[in-house]
Amino acid sequence: MAAFVKPVIAGNWKMHKGPSQTREFFSRFIELREATADRTILFFPPAVSLAAAVEALAGRPDLLLGVQNSHWEREGAFTGEISPGMARDAGARFALIGHSERRHLFGETNEEVGRKVAAAFEAGLTPVVCVGETLEEREAGRLEEVILGQLDAAIEGIAPELVAQMILAYEPVWAIGTGVNATPEDAADAHGRLRRRLAERIGDDRAAEVPILYGGSVKPNNAQALLAAPDVDGLLVGGASLDPESFAAITRS
Ligand code: PGA
Repeated sequence: MAAFVKPVIAGNWKMHKGPSQTREFFSRFIELREATADRTILFFPPAVSLAAAVEALAGRPDLLLGVQNSHWEREGAFTGEISPGMARDAGARFALIGHSERRHLFGETNEEVGRKVAAAFEAGLTPVVCVGETLEEREAGRLEEVILGQLDAAIEGIAPELVAQMILAYEPVWAIGTGVNATPEDAADAHGRLRRRLAERIGDDRAAEVPILYGGSVKPNNAQALLAAPDVDGLLVGGASLDPESFAAITRS
């Protein structure tokens, strides 16, 4: 797996857009956004829309795809789940792992996140691991303990050369879908802590390779300032990635 050109700008569609809306989105987005080699752009549509996305992006190898979740087993009696190998077969190259909605609405634990990361690597997917604290945790002074604990659990037992190939996303829970983004200073502070912990685990050079994305109420009007912050190597965009115009604007930031 090659290193990714930074910045990495990713759109997480969550439970929005079936195949028809996916085709509509991409027919417009492709008109708006010329191919580029100076950044990495990727999308996380719902898994049922992956085939439509692959077809719509056939002429645009610069636009990459991933799934929003994948299981740790390769196959088996796990109704409703998809494995990373299946996702890869369907055209995904990335898997979001440990998004806060998975953690908080579906009870995903740090330990499960670790198993999912290992399975994603094994299947040849790049994990995009999400970490982030709640408002309560931040106000209790537990920011570092929470996000570094999430990071440690996600990479436990994974070879340093693989860890160097992942993508990390800092998404403070209080900023997701709320319209209240972290300030560039808050983002830089959290990203710096994550980078230092990565460096302790895998060394400075490898830690520097890992793109650390910021997510949480990213919009066209704040994207540039967030991207300019130290240690912010990209953006993970939810709501504003659903509209081709606004996401195209963010990819130009
Ligand atoms: P938001 O979501 O941009 O709508 O805040 C971000 C995310 O959950 O990845």
